Amino acid sequence: MASKLVYLAIASALVAYYFYLPLPENVEEGWKVMFIDSILRTMSHVAQLSDRLGISYYTDIGMLIMSSGNVPPISDENVTVTDTAFNNVPVRLFVPKKPSNALRRAVIYFHGGGWCTGSPAMKPYDLLSRWIADRLNAVVVSVDYRLAPAHPFPVPFEDSYATAKYFLQKEILEKYNVDPDRICVSGDSAGANLAAAVTQQLQDDNEVKVKPKIQALIYPALQTIDLDTPSYRDNSHMPYLNRKSMARFWSVYFANDSLLTEAMQSNTHVSSESNHLIKFANWSNLLPEELKRDHLYRSPQSGGSQFLKAYPGIADPRAAPLLVADEKLSKLPRTYILTCMYDVLRDDGFMYITRLKHAGVEVIHDHYDNAFHGMLLFITWPTDLSLGLRMVNNYINWLNENL
Ligand SMILES: *[C@@H]1O[C@H](CO)[C@@H](O)[C@H](O)[C@H]1NC(C)=O
Ligand SMILES: *[C@@H]1O[C@H](CO)[C@@H](O)[C@H](O)[C@H]1NC(C)=O
Ligand SMILES: *[C@@H]1O[C@H](CO)[C@@H](O)[C@H](O)[C@H]1NC(C)=O
Repeated sequence: MASKLVYLAIASALVAYYFYLPLPENVEEGWKVMFIDSILRTMSHVAQLSDRLGISYYTDIGMLIMSSGNVPPISDENVTVTDTAFNNVPVRLFVPKKPSNALRRAVIYFHGGGWCTGSPAMKPYDLLSRWIADRLNAVVVSVDYRLAPAHPFPVPFEDSYATAKYFLQKEILEKYNVDPDRICVSGDSAGANLAAAVTQQLQDDNEVKVKPKIQALIYPALQTIDLDTPSYRDNSHMPYLNRKSMARFWSVYFANDSLLTEAMQSNTHVSSESNHLIKFANWSNLLPEELKRDHLYRSPQSGGSQFLKAYPGIADPRAAPLLVADEKLSKLPRTYILTCMYDVLRDDGFMYITRLKHAGVEVIHDHYDNAFHGMLLFITWPTDLSLGLRMVNNYINWLNENL
């Protein structure tokens, strides 16, 4: 009996240790945040362990876990949902059923998942697209671009670009009854990275006559040069994306190379050849004082010339859209950027905002001072968070008013 109690005490202590996570004071629904985070951490540990045991590649397990909640394309009373392909890239298409005399608006959406997991069929992405289609009476194109590591950069970008370019053709827009003057490019996390990169490249593409009216970037990843910004430092162990995982996602986007992963995790992956890019992501100049606080600026270490040579994508603006000159930024349309305080990617968003404003682009900034990365996905039971739902609402309201 006594030994059973001891076991029970040890087991409870372990569970509590695993489950309990010190959270900032202003966080809402703290227990639920911890609960969801402990599930995600368990999954991540299972993936890492099986990777080490040689059972399966880390991102395959990640993909398996993420896709376990996938839903088929089922139309509802308001929206017709179909899986089809644009330019050979699979897309999930959401078309409102409501008859409309006027032309419709459209949103081209890129899902998140670190360029190596996720899909438009994931329940929260499917739901988000339905809500946008329904509330805006808009056509939503949710893009199922190919994923790393099987398809490293530039494939995810190229698939994304090919889809946008296909959809923006006059005859395709006519086919779907879409107003060419009211199209948005959007995405979250790695998908916001793709959205930002696609929007930039569209501006200079002479073959593309129809340009997006707005872009909406939800906690975007925007730069590869400095993975030691104050937000990477302050939020290295916050839910739902820690610093090590983000560096791993970046490295897997470019290569299946554990040396690159380690170098990115220690921010020693750049070389003197990329010195000319550092100014585009120099947080010492680009962040507001309250985020810099007592952090000392350290220029990224020049330790990794072999990486830039082997994987030039690291310094390519199609992977890191912050790393372009003002002249390129100045052509961008009105931009919505959502940032979260407790997110390693927070400063990517803030730096882009500073630079876009400086280049004369109109920016609407929706900052959540009590939120974590990825909360937009927590809108379905049992992992629904009221803050996630508020974020989605504010985002859709902004689209509705500005598109
Ligand atoms: C369809 O639209 C109606 C009216 O706006 C709404 O009440 C209903 O909940 C919507 N159905 C779905 C499945 O979203
Ligand atoms: C990644 O690299 C590991 C070890 O080098 C190899 O076993 C694995 O098959 C590779 N995975 C992919 C998707 O290329
Ligand atoms: C970054 O900005 C700071 C402050 O303006 C400056 O002292 C530093 O030289 C800059 N570093 C680089 C590498 O541009």
